[in-house]
Amino acid sequence: MNIIGIESSCDETACAVVRDGREVLSSVVYTQIPLHRPYGGVVPEVASRAHIEKIAGVIAEAQKQFREKDPGGKIDAVAVTYGPGLASSLIVGLNAAKGLAAGLGVPLIGINHIEAHLHTPFLFDSGASAATPDPAERMPALGLAVSGGHTSWIDMPEYGKYEIIGQTLDDAAGEAFDKAAKLLGLGYPGGPVMDRYAKAYWLKHDPSDAAGLKGLAYPEIGKLPDELPVFPKGHPRPGSAALSGLDADLCVSFSGLKTALLRYVQKLTGASKIGDSFAEAAARPDGAVPPEMIPPVVASYQEAIVGAIADRTARALRRRAYRALIVGGGVSLNGRLRAKLAEVAQAAGVELMLAAPKNCGDNAAMIAGLAFYRRNLVGEEAIKVDVHPSLEAGDEP
Ligand code: KG4
Ligand code: ZN
Repeated sequence: MNIIGIESSCDETACAVVRDGREVLSSVVYTQIPLHRPYGGVVPEVASRAHIEKIAGVIAEAQKQFREKDPGGKIDAVAVTYGPGLASSLIVGLNAAKGLAAGLGVPLIGINHIEAHLHTPFLFDSGASAATPDPAERMPALGLAVSGGHTSWIDMPEYGKYEIIGQTLDDAAGEAFDKAAKLLGLGYPGGPVMDRYAKAYWLKHDPSDAAGLKGLAYPEIGKLPDELPVFPKGHPRPGSAALSGLDADLCVSFSGLKTALLRYVQKLTGASKIGDSFAEAAARPDGAVPPEMIPPVVASYQEAIVGAIADRTARALRRRAYRALIVGGGVSLNGRLRAKLAEVAQAAGVELMLAAPKNCGDNAAMIAGLAFYRRNLVGEEAIKVDVHPSLEAGDEP
């Protein structure tokens, strides 16, 4: 069964064709990052306009690549992200998908973007020497979704069933990276740059040598200098209303990190130079922080985020006899997080399932792939579906 998937929830316009849920026949991603970079974050109006401009071309390109792979191949269904995400962006993909499904005369399948991130480790490129396992063989699994908008621990008793058991109460992990990078003047998006600076610090390498660093294995990490700020571990108070009934041990708060960073940068540079609030400081960061201080501060900040994620993951893995730890989302590209999660999974005796780097960020192969297993919202029902900007994993529309 060939499913064509469309994704437009945030700042990537994407389309892909996936066979039988795992074999990627074509995958096209147009990223809007350069459009949003001058603003230091995603601007919804800019995003929706770019989706409108690009979506037809992206769909045509994915179909062309599919036909090259499988000249006589037929599309059996259209899948589309209907949430969570920016309403004005989701609607562009959803309408394109409805039109495509009607035109092809095939069913439409609505897909949850977070659940789709957890499908990415099961995707493989058509023609690759090794296929990936059937997801059913890896259940029950613990899902960890770490992206710019979400950080959640998700219980997956069987494939297609999702229950959030832990999450961030405020900023997502990717957001915590992006905000710190803005404060330090490292540009947008911050995650990849922060990852590079931290790795350069541990390897005593030049942080600007991106290509050189990429080729180097992540080292064992040492001790951080004492004069660095102690970043909060982000343990929420048990019983806090913000937990909405979730266990405090499996939740995290990342918002205190950026305040600790702001205070440290103010101390380092003099508050008058950088301003008093986070917004002020982030608005004029250039040269405010001594360049030699940036790598150790970034390494320490990253350690706080990675440490908190690893700690909650280890706790969740102790709760139930899982077979696998399935990780998805842009932050799962982080070198230190990947290394740390490997330790956590090994200690728990579960298989760590990470996606290929090109499938970690937003893409449509994850939408088309998961749709094969999630044919719960199909045809007439799906044609009527509207966007659900605040959808959570496990929610049914
Ligand atoms: O999954 P994604 O592409 O989009 C969302 O659904 O949010 O995730 C984007 C997030 C951004 O916050 C970005 O800074 C972060 O993933 N990210 C990273 C790395 N690469 C991307 N964070 C840490 N380390 C990285 N290497
Ligand atoms: Zn995403």
